[in-house]
Amino acid sequence: APKPIIAPSILASDFGSLAHECSRIIKSEGADWLHIDIMDGHFVPNITIGAPVVTCIRRSVDRSEDWTKGVFDCHMMVAEPQKWLQDFKDAGCDLYCFHHEAAETSKDPKTPSTELIKNIHALGLKAGVAIKPGTEVDVLYPLLDGSGEKPDMVLVMTVEPGFGGQKFRPECMAKVEALRKRYPELDIEVDGGLGLGTIDQAAEAGANVIVAGTAVFGAQSPKEVIEKLRETVER
Ligand code: DX5
Ligand code: ZN
Repeated sequence: APKPIIAPSILASDFGSLAHECSRIIKSEGADWLHIDIMDGHFVPNITIGAPVVTCIRRSVDRSEDWTKGVFDCHMMVAEPQKWLQDFKDAGCDLYCFHHEAAETSKDPKTPSTELIKNIHALGLKAGVAIKPGTEVDVLYPLLDGSGEKPDMVLVMTVEPGFGGQKFRPECMAKVEALRKRYPELDIEVDGGLGLGTIDQAAEAGANVIVAGTAVFGAQSPKEVIEKLRETVER
């Protein structure tokens, strides 16, 4: 199975010291990636940050060559994912993870998931595809099995996107299990309500990329939490 990757969600960090929080979590606390939640107030009922902020934090976080450290995992909870692609490339995003629901309904411009993955790769970024708790996992099979360019990661949301600090939804694990069975090497990310109390279920189902906001940034020792999460996925 692919290696464990721990990706703290900076949504739970202190935005007043964002650059410092981001470099600290990677350099001192041992996180692998940074999960950056982008919300536009349309796809989800909340607004967070945009590309200019990502540009600023990129200056304080170095990336490794090999997709293991300092990856900017941008979770695009936006209604028009195609529209922001170039801006996020320029800002220093590494992995552009869009919502399948948004791609399939976007109008401006109309860019279904297959097209979007191609466009993301053309800019030299990795592509992720996310699904909300209410979206069936089967919608991803044509993308993963088709003859077109494939997503590099799938994100199975374990809360309704929009806010940090929500309760993990265990019923979403059936989707992770189904994906892991079909795609032994795929990077499968889970996001929402993950922490020491829920990691067992996610690891058991086969997730290997773990997003955790509150559980990491709210901890006395983020380092210990990150280590425990990683150990659980590794076993
Ligand atoms: C929710 C975001 C999550 C969120 C996770 O819409 O996509 O990344 O920040 O936060 P926790 O870990 O606190 O549930
Ligand atoms: Zn997220």
